[in-house]
Amino acid sequence: MSNKKKNLDIIKHLQDHRSIRQFTNEKIPKEDIEQIILSAQAAPSSSHGQAYSVICVTEEEKKSKLAEYAGGQQQVENCSHFFVFCADLHRLEKIARRSNINMKEPLDSTEMFLIATVDATIVAQNTAVAAEALGLGIVYIGGLRNNPDKVSDLLKLPYRCYPVFGMCIGYPDSKNIPEKKPRLPHKAVFYKNEYLNFEKTLTYIEEYDEIMKTYYEKRTNGKRSDTWSETMIDKRKIPRRLHLKSFLKDRGFPLI
Ligand SMILES: Cc1cc2nc3c(=O)[nH]c(=O)nc-3n(C[C@H](O)[C@H](O)[C@H](O)COP(=O)(O)O)c2cc1C
Repeated sequence: MSNKKKNLDIIKHLQDHRSIRQFTNEKIPKEDIEQIILSAQAAPSSSHGQAYSVICVTEEEKKSKLAEYAGGQQQVENCSHFFVFCADLHRLEKIARRSNINMKEPLDSTEMFLIATVDATIVAQNTAVAAEALGLGIVYIGGLRNNPDKVSDLLKLPYRCYPVFGMCIGYPDSKNIPEKKPRLPHKAVFYKNEYLNFEKTLTYIEEYDEIMKTYYEKRTNGKRSDTWSETMIDKRKIPRRLHLKSFLKDRGFPLI
């Protein structure tokens, strides 16, 4: 790896991200999928544990079931490849058992849950960046957690392996590429040396609310004109997916 040369293409590429929800019918060639996998696996992981698994779903019937489980998200069905990113402690438990070591207590811990979830997430973002570099579009699908039991059964996920989210990958339909979604002003989220108190970030948030309001007005031809603050409060004011607590416990993530 060169340590001097700046790769500005990567910087530009990262800053050009937008989620794609409309795909063409074209399938991604095998060589590109291989490059995506190699890039995904290059991700760092906690203690080099690689506590994740990725299921690449191409069978139309399975994709259509997953689309339904994700709350009727058509892009899951219409994308070329649908990846499911799983936090996975199953392998570790098995190799320990092979050496007659019982790992129940550590594997039950919240820390191990976090390690596996973070490992899976970093691999997913590498996947996204690699796919976009190859001219593909992606969208994460957290909607899989609407029905994590059904997803796990369909994909035959073993004990101590759960689906964190999915990702649609495919060729963007050029007629339906959204504008880049504006982010919070960096001063509202990146702080120097210490946390900036809320009163100081409020003006940036207010500024952003207006930007997002205009963004949604334009994107929806005036059908939507909510601010970012309103959207977030509305989305988060009711607890969601409360089934996850018992799902995770049953699947080997009791979070002790
Ligand atoms: C973990 C995660 C789960 C997401 N789940 C969904 C989803 O189920 N369906 C969907 O259409 N978009 C989903 N998204 C995409 C976000 O809505 C999107 O990233 C966000 O609105 C920012 O837009 P952008 O990616 O176009 O910049 C998800 C994103 C992340 C990171």
